[in-house]
Amino acid sequence: MWFLILFSVVSIMGDLNTGNSGVEVEKRSPKILVVYYSSSGITEKVGGLLAVALEADQEKLVDKKERKGVWNYLVAAKDAMMKYETDIETPKYNPADYDLVIIGTPVWAWTMTPAVRTYITKNKDKLKNVVFFTTSGGTVYDKIVPEMETLSGKKAVISNGFFEKEVKEDSKEMIDKLNKFLENIKSSLSVKI
Ligand SMILES: Cc1cc2nc3c(=O)[nH]c(=O)nc-3n(C[C@H](O)[C@H](O)[C@H](O)COP(=O)(O)O)c2cc1C
Repeated sequence: MWFLILFSVVSIMGDLNTGNSGVEVEKRSPKILVVYYSSSGITEKVGGLLAVALEADQEKLVDKKERKGVWNYLVAAKDAMMKYETDIETPKYNPADYDLVIIGTPVWAWTMTPAVRTYITKNKDKLKNVVFFTTSGGTVYDKIVPEMETLSGKKAVISNGFFEKEVKEDSKEMIDKLNKFLENIKSSLSVKI
């Protein structure tokens, strides 16, 4: 099933030279970075599929604070709700080197995770164009994305959200949504070769 999804995702990625509006890049392939935090693997799965399909570099943020276990779950929810930042490991890639940075976060307490909040705050001046996505148990992405836009000072080229259940099940809805999201990202890249 995993390979089927990957094939499906990759197969819709044709020539990148078809965009018509949005991100302007020079006469070369666009450089894309996919950045995400993921505690239990859902956001990592979506981020990984996007990165493979877009031939993008991938940055998984590491929160230095322990987030596993019942007590840490409660602290995590509190930290997110209080809009706290956290200590993250130094990222491998410099977002300033990329035409487009795609940032994904799990929803915690109806907002972004502290790791993603920290990343955006620290790097907002280096972001040229952004795409945001969320994963959640049910909260919809357009409740979270406006805050990510305010924090980054950037209007997202496009954004989307995925539910934990549909990602776990590799549901048809999720695959269709992912393919549409990829198409929209692709068509936002105005590539002149
Ligand atoms: C501390 C905590 C708070 C959460 N709060 C919400 C929430 O407010 N709304 C929601 O829909 N899901 C919430 N969830 C569920 C996660 O958003 C969901 O499981 C997500 O897909 C996990 O992504 P990950 O596997 O990449 O960590 C919460 C999960 C945790 C651990």
